[in-house]
Formats: sequence, structure tokens, C-alpha cells
Amino acid sequence: MLQNDLIIRTLRGEKTERTPVWMMRQAGRYLPEYMALRAKYGFFERCQTPELAAEITLQPVDIVGVDAAILFSDILVVPQAMGLEVELIESKGPNLPEPIKTTADLKRVRVPEVEETLGYVFDAIKLIKQQLNGRVPLIGFAGAPWTLLCYMVQGKGSKTFDEAKIFCYTQPELAHQLLQMITDTTIAYLKGQVKAGADVVQIFDSWGGLLSPADFENFSLKYIRQIVAALKDEVPTIIFAKGAWHSLESMAATGALGLGIDWCITPQLARQMAGNNITLQGNFDPAKLMSPIPVIQKEVKEMLKGFGPGLHIANLGHGILPNVPVDHARAFVDAVKAFTW
Ligand code: CP3
Repeated sequence: MLQNDLIIRTLRGEKTERTPVWMMRQAGRYLPEYMALRAKYGFFERCQTPELAAEITLQPVDIVGVDAAILFSDILVVPQAMGLEVELIESKGPNLPEPIKTTADLKRVRVPEVEETLGYVFDAIKLIKQQLNGRVPLIGFAGAPWTLLCYMVQGKGSKTFDEAKIFCYTQPELAHQLLQMITDTTIAYLKGQVKAGADVVQIFDSWGGLLSPADFENFSLKYIRQIVAALKDEVPTIIFAKGAWHSLESMAATGALGLGIDWCITPQLARQMAGNNITLQGNFDPAKLMSPIPVIQKEVKEMLKGFGPGLHIANLGHGILPNVPVDHARAFVDAVKAFTW
């Protein structure tokens, strides 16, 4: 049914004609077409209106020619569905006015009925699948429980998420209760995405790298493992735990078919740690998309050679930056497509 299933075949470990490519945060502010819709509708309005979410999801497929679409939404729709107020403040980022700090606060959150609270996402997925008409696979996603806890406790973005960490270290029982509630919600949510038509799911643990290896196991991977186990007979899953390269071996053992890596580890070392049976995804430094196009072309080749043929999905090591010229994003994608062994 899919005309381009390079990503699915790569995740399954099959040989493909070339390395597939997509970019994290590929639907976003570097696209003038996205900015035009952003000027007219609020952020969560764009997420909650299936027609808008579908249009934004398809933009990078049409404009830069990536090998997968990723659902336009946000990881913070889950805390919203669990009962917390979440707003996105222009040029400041997410804000949760009443974060979780105490046992009493935890009583304000629940494991919701996902059809009721997140049905708009499932509707968007159905519409996207219709509009894609099999051109490329659709990636669904959710935040990892640890990364969602960071926002639910800290209440806003942070470089260190110290308040979230202190919450975990001083009130571990409460933290584990919250992490389990997020996990249960996420499993139902991702199963709903798959039922609606998502072909692959990615778990974003953007703040996994803030934890020591032992704390990453205890507060993050323990819960990611449950999510992967619940999904693994349905669709391929990809875990992207930024900065948590120390745990690639244990992440590979979860049953996920793909592991995202950032640019702080070489493909060779990542391969050595993750073993030979899992697809690696990454790991171009997003800031390098600001380099002149010939430099991008050269560095893409280096990256592809570093990973070697097969078991690799080309991507950035984190989300694309808002100021990247569209022709640079396209040059990145085209350079991957043009590469032959
Ligand atoms: O990849 C895609 O194109 C799909 C869409 C997507 C968005 N957010 C849209 C978005 C995905 C996969 C996310 C995930 C997400 N959201 C993560 C994990 C990935 C990562 O980058 O680490 C995180 C931590 C968030 C939380 C979040 N949402 C932040 C910190 C911000 C503000 C900072 C920023 O980049 O603007 C958002 C807003 C957001 N989510 C935007 C988009 C396109 C920008 C909104 C706008 O200003 O138009």
C-alpha cells in the first residue's frame, strides 16, 4: 500500500536501494508555508484542527521531499489530556501555570479516556493517511514519561530541569506514581495513533541526557520499556533519548527497532554499543544546516559513510532550527538521496 516504504524496511533490517531520510521537527518555523498558518491560528488550535494538522504535516513531504511524514502535534497534548493547563507563549515556549509539586497536586491529574481527550489527534491521523495516499509512511509520536514529567513539574522549559530532578530525588514515590500515570496514558494514546493509521511511532526523550545512567534507568527507561513492549507487536518503534548514549545497549534490548542518536557520539561507537541488529537514526548537528550547501553535501557524505550501508535512517541529531533556509533543508535531504555506495 505504501509506495515509499524505505523507512519501514530499514527498521525491519531489510536491504534498501538507499538510505531513507526525514528530519525531526520537519514541520515548523523554517517553512514559510507553516508561518502563514501560524500567523492565522494559535498553536493548540493548529494541533486540534485535523485539517490544519494535516496540511502542516504534509508540507515538508511536498516541499523538502522527506521519506516520512511526522504527525504535526506536540508532546504536551498528553499533560493537557491528563488535566493540566498548558499554554505556548510566543518566543518563550511552553508554560504550565499549575505544575505538580505535591501529593495534593497529583490529585489534579488523571489517566484520561484517550478517545475523548485526544480524539482530535486520531482524526488528524486518519485525514493525513487519506491525503498521503500511500506516498510515504506516517510517524506518530509521544514524549517519554520522563520528558513529560520535566514539563509537568518544572512548569516551563529549562536547560537543567533542576526542579523536576529534585522532585524525583526527594519524593521518589510520588514521581513514580506520576511516571506510571503518564506511561498508562501514553500506551493508550500511541495504540490509538496506530489504530488511526500511524505506521511507526517515535518516543521523544529530549531530556533523558540530564540523568545519570542509573537515574535514567530508574526514572526513564523503566517506563519507555513498558511503552515499547505494549507497541512492539503492532508497529516499529523508535526511541530518541537525547544525550543518553550511555544507555544505547539497554535501549536496544527493549525491542525497539530504531534508536535515535545525537551528534555527540560517533556512528561507530553508537553501533558498537547498540549491537548489529537495530537501526540507528541521526545524527547531523542541526546547526550545521546553516553551513553553505557544498559543506552540507560533504558532511552528509561523511555521516552516511560513518553509519555504513543498511540499518540507518538519516536524520538530524535534534529538531531543525527555525532559521534554516529551506534550500539548505532540501540540500540535506537531496544529498542523502543522491548518495550511492
Ligand atoms: O517533528 C515534527 O515536525 C512534528 C511536530 C512536533 C512538534 N513538537 C511541533 C512543535 C514534534 C515531534 C514536537 C515534539 C516536542 N515538543 C518535543 C520533543 C522533541 C524535541 O524537539 O526535543 C518537545 C521537547 C516539545 C515541547 C515544545 N513544543 C517546546 C519546547 C516548544 C517551544 C520551542 C520551539 O521549538 O518552538 C514547542 C512548540 C512547538 N512544537 C513548535 C512546533 C512546530 C513551535 C511552535 C511555533 O512557534 O509555531
